[in-house]
Amino acid sequence: MQKFSVTMERVVLILLLLLPLCCGHSEYQGKVMTYYSLETYSDGAVLMEFHYRSNSKTCVSHRHWCPDDGCLTISFTTTPIDYSPEGFCQVDSIWTRNSSSEAPFKMVLYSDTLWSSPIANGVVTAGASILVELRKRSDTGQANRCPQTTILPVFRVPYNCPRDIQLLSFDPDGDLVQCRFANDEIDPTECANCTLPSVLSLSSPCTLSFSASSSSSSQGRYAVQLAMEDFPRTQITLSQTNGQQEVKDTTTGISKIPVQFLFAVESAAPSCTSGLFLPTFVTPTPAHGTQINLPVKKTMNLYIAAQASEATVTELVFSGPSNMTEIGSGGQYILSWTPTDTELGQSHPVCFSAQAALNASKYSSELRCVVVNVGNEALKSALVKKIRMELVKRGMIDTVTASLKHLNSTLKVQEPSFCN
Ligand SMILES: *[C@@H]1O[C@H](CO)[C@@H](O)[C@H](O)[C@H]1NC(C)=O
Ligand SMILES: *[C@@H]1O[C@H](CO)[C@@H](O)[C@H](O)[C@H]1NC(C)=O
Ligand SMILES: *[C@@H]1O[C@H](CO)[C@@H](O)[C@H](O)[C@H]1NC(C)=O
Ligand SMILES: *[C@@H]1O[C@H](CO)[C@@H](O)[C@H](O)[C@H]1NC(C)=O
Ligand SMILES: *[C@@H]1O[C@H](CO)[C@@H](O)[C@H](O)[C@H]1NC(C)=O
Repeated sequence: MQKFSVTMERVVLILLLLLPLCCGHSEYQGKVMTYYSLETYSDGAVLMEFHYRSNSKTCVSHRHWCPDDGCLTISFTTTPIDYSPEGFCQVDSIWTRNSSSEAPFKMVLYSDTLWSSPIANGVVTAGASILVELRKRSDTGQANRCPQTTILPVFRVPYNCPRDIQLLSFDPDGDLVQCRFANDEIDPTECANCTLPSVLSLSSPCTLSFSASSSSSSQGRYAVQLAMEDFPRTQITLSQTNGQQEVKDTTTGISKIPVQFLFAVESAAPSCTSGLFLPTFVTPTPAHGTQINLPVKKTMNLYIAAQASEATVTELVFSGPSNMTEIGSGGQYILSWTPTDTELGQSHPVCFSAQAALNASKYSSELRCVVVNVGNEALKSALVKKIRMELVKRGMIDTVTASLKHLNSTLKVQEPSFCN
């Protein structure tokens, strides 16, 4: 704790006021914010991109007022990623910033927006912050990357069914990712009202558990506010172009992102067995945590199938890159996405859950997430194949098979899947 506050004092604070583009001031339902470094200049400046994904009742988008030097004109999208007529919507905004140095900074996201009431754990004001770390890492030789995750427009469970929600916690640098509930004693900017959702417990690294209840009194909508941090697996040094350095050991967090969402505890299901009322995923739905390698300008099609024998599968709720599209119905869905050149080297999370309906009740499947790695791994794979073909052509294949295998495993090559 002491170590943390000492570090924080050296971190520049940036205050960012978020203004809803329209109307609603009491309809906030969560957010997740991540960042990517796009380019580091020789003077130490870093061009970076923030991805701000926010949930609301009526698709409110946020423009921001940035009092700081380095904000460039902002390209934000107002197109909803996903929208449900029940009042769960997710929109994505992308902001770029030209930071004058790689020095870490904390951005406090001020907003006059309130959580959509009623919130069962009494949370009113939406508050959050992000700790950005872009210094060059001694282990990768590149700017640090933050953990990657995403949230759905809504998570719902019947009050009588236990449920573990394994949030995606992926770090492109291979760091250990840990979640904890936002806590104003650790950092007063993480949350404005920090009351915990009593119905959920959190276990390492990032699993939320809901314990079933026999009483309907746990029903309601809870505000879940988490901080997701990355910790190096061995001691590393972070360096700036101006020569300044800082050592991070396995107990000191590197960066920190806010993860906030609405957790809805609803009426009892006649059965908690998945595949009956609660939909279940079946083949060819990819397993939770699957890594997909996708070259730029190639289209990925993610095939998802869900079943519920006693209810009707009505929709797929998902969260992915802004331009991801969904087609399908009746339990068969395809999520498609084509990354552009600017997304080369980035890892994008995609999470989804199937919804089923019976009478007035709605039931959600488990949460599934995959990570799409744009470019790098796919390029390595193509490179290994090309070398191999060249060697076969020259009749040298036997002597080099072993070293090629070694090269392949060193590069951690996976064949691209799901792309065509
Ligand atoms: C960012 O700032 C650096 C100088 O610090 C400059 O060279 C570069 O052109 C700027 N990038 C953009 C996109 O404005
Ligand atoms: C919620 O947070 C706001 C802003 O910090 C504060 O003014 C308000 O008193 C808090 N409300 C509760 C119920 O804690
Ligand atoms: C989404 O697609 C539109 C139209 O093709 C394009 O102009 C925009 O840059 C894309 N946005 C992102 C974030 O890739
Ligand atoms: C759904 O509605 C039908 C017809 O009203 C009723 O017979 C059935 O018990 C209801 N099912 C559930 C699970 O509530
Ligand atoms: C590289 O390794 C992967 C599995 O790790 C394997 O599927 C692939 O065929 C290998 N590629 C080559 C060119 O050896």
